[in-house]
Amino acid sequence: MTLDALKAQAAADATLKIVDQFAADPDRLARMSLDVAGLFVDVSKQSWSKAGFETAIAAVAQSAIAEAREKMWTGQEINVSEGRAVLHVALRDSDAENLRLRGPEITSDVKTARDAMRSYADGIRSGAITGATGKPFKTIIHIGIGGSDLGPRLVWHGLTPLNPQIDIRFVANVDGSELALATAGLDPTETLVIAVSKTFTTQETLANFLAARDWLIKGLGEEGAKKHLAAVSAAPDKTSAYGIPADRVFGFKDWVGGRYSLWSAVSLSVIIAAGYDVYERLLAGAHEMDQHFLTAPLEKNAPVLLAAAQLYNRIGLNRPSRAVIPYVHRLRRLAAFLQQLEMESNGKRTSPTGELLDTQTCPVVFGDEGTNAQHAFFQMLHQSEDIVPLELIAAQHNDEASTDMQQKLLSNVIAQGEAFMVGKSLETSEAECRKLGFDDAKTAQIAPQKVCPGNKPSTTVLLNELTPETLGALLAMYEHKTFVEGIVMGLNSFDQWGVELGKTLGVNVLKDITGSEIAPHDPSTTALIKRIKG
Ligand code: F6P
Repeated sequence: MTLDALKAQAAADATLKIVDQFAADPDRLARMSLDVAGLFVDVSKQSWSKAGFETAIAAVAQSAIAEAREKMWTGQEINVSEGRAVLHVALRDSDAENLRLRGPEITSDVKTARDAMRSYADGIRSGAITGATGKPFKTIIHIGIGGSDLGPRLVWHGLTPLNPQIDIRFVANVDGSELALATAGLDPTETLVIAVSKTFTTQETLANFLAARDWLIKGLGEEGAKKHLAAVSAAPDKTSAYGIPADRVFGFKDWVGGRYSLWSAVSLSVIIAAGYDVYERLLAGAHEMDQHFLTAPLEKNAPVLLAAAQLYNRIGLNRPSRAVIPYVHRLRRLAAFLQQLEMESNGKRTSPTGELLDTQTCPVVFGDEGTNAQHAFFQMLHQSEDIVPLELIAAQHNDEASTDMQQKLLSNVIAQGEAFMVGKSLETSEAECRKLGFDDAKTAQIAPQKVCPGNKPSTTVLLNELTPETLGALLAMYEHKTFVEGIVMGLNSFDQWGVELGKTLGVNVLKDITGSEIAPHDPSTTALIKRIKG
């Protein structure tokens, strides 16, 4: 019902020009922007009219979001297919609030995990905990994939000191080259290998970990290597089989979803390398966004505004993709992080009770850092007939940039939002051609090619500065955005059954490749297996 209203209003808005909406509604910018936790969020360049905006917010209001949010916060099993609570917000809450909302068990789980990580990180940073030869650790090899990689990798890129006391190299791919590159030039006596896997069953992570352990053993012997191993898992009992000493296993609970796990021990390598205080600041920023999400009215609620814009574009206007462009090199992996967060959470077709949904769900999320992307795929975004909504993200201040560089960067991000919205008309293009001295024939040929249709929507998110706090707030904002969308679309954002089929068939194909027989497949698959087997 609410989504029908959204579709009807979006259809009515479809012919309107975004730029004209500012005149039609003089309060548009104030209505459709807000400041929160060091972020300025502006959805006024989206395609909606005032009525469209209100209808999208109403779709959220009329959904089960209030009830779902309450259930999430109080630790009820909202991940129904897996029978789990979804409590990543507890990881950034105070002990007192955890106790009030979720009881002593959760409070003690969170506190125990925090204390263990702090003491281990402090011990390594101070040199009290060393490797087998007594040398301090200089590099961490962080081995994990999906949620056990993307969040910590993004956070480390975001916050890496220019001269880190301890560096991190990430290994996710089981292609061998990522590990080879990660270990290249490293001294095993100064290297700590941390295996990160919620389930501790993930094929790629375990294969990479065993290979990294072999590399340590070669340099340090079996016993020596043990001092260089640690693990993070929600299944800590599984780690002993891999020779990881129990006092170096850091746990988290199954109420932390993989793609929501960067707030847990999954970020242990970052906590060690950046320091526990930096981690606390990250949590504080996320917590501020949590409080905003809980208390701000829906029409002034940053995650809700972003969700409303996406629902409007995807469901209202059938736009199947969204580009995420951080004009911040340190956030260059943001699109990859959001791909998992949004597409693994909401790329689904059924309700939690098994019915087929009668709505579009998650768009394709893609992107790269600006301005680089301007020189690559922006051509298509400007001139294709397809409309790809954009999210333009920038930081207003950056101590690492000169004033000149920063002004150039910011002028680009602002100009792009304007260019997508206003476009370039045929008349303007013709005038340009005539100014260049083109005759009528050449003008008729070239001018249409210069036209940019415009009316392409974008959202701008401007951070005051990239700090642990604003990064925490930004990522928490996207988590809640994804949650809101899932509730409005009527699906469970916290399971991921779709990835299982590929895993199962992967195991079968591995048997075909390593065994003497090949099980029946289609001709293409069989031919590929034969080719691999040589
Ligand atoms: O295959 C998908 C997935 O289960 C993700 O949801 C998860 O983040 C990733 O694999 C890694 O899983 P794990 O942390 O258990 O190794």
